[in-house]
Amino acid sequence: MSLTLKNMSVKPGKDLKITGVPKPDAEGFSVNIGHSDNDIALHFNVRFNQHGDHHAIVFNSRQGGSWCNEQREDHFPFEQGEEFKVTINYNSDEFHVKMPGDHTVLFPNRFGEDKFMYIEVLGDVKIKGFKIN
Ligand code: GAL
Repeated sequence: MSLTLKNMSVKPGKDLKITGVPKPDAEGFSVNIGHSDNDIALHFNVRFNQHGDHHAIVFNSRQGGSWCNEQREDHFPFEQGEEFKVTINYNSDEFHVKMPGDHTVLFPNRFGEDKFMYIEVLGDVKIKGFKIN
């Protein structure tokens, strides 16, 4: 399942809340925020079993179609088939990604910008709720 929103701005200070359920056999899913598929300020990729990783969370950005340096998170609070909530907000310095268990990870806003109009959720996940407020 995937969701792509274009021309929808998430302003700094607003919370983007996603409720989803990974498929029982999910390999992984991602949330991307940026300008386009090629220019992503935040790539948040939950890997159950994907790209050679088992239970890893990878953060990255993408510029002009090239991936930048990954940031990895050891904590893995997701389970296949189990509903989760993720809340993302940002400012021109960093993204704050709150994961299940109230664990928040910071990822630098390498674009230094505060207006993004491209939001994408894709992969092996059923999206049950999506809210910006
Ligand atoms: C790649 C993967 C991309 C993205 C990227 C993040 O290996 O193919 O989908 O997750 O890593 O650095």
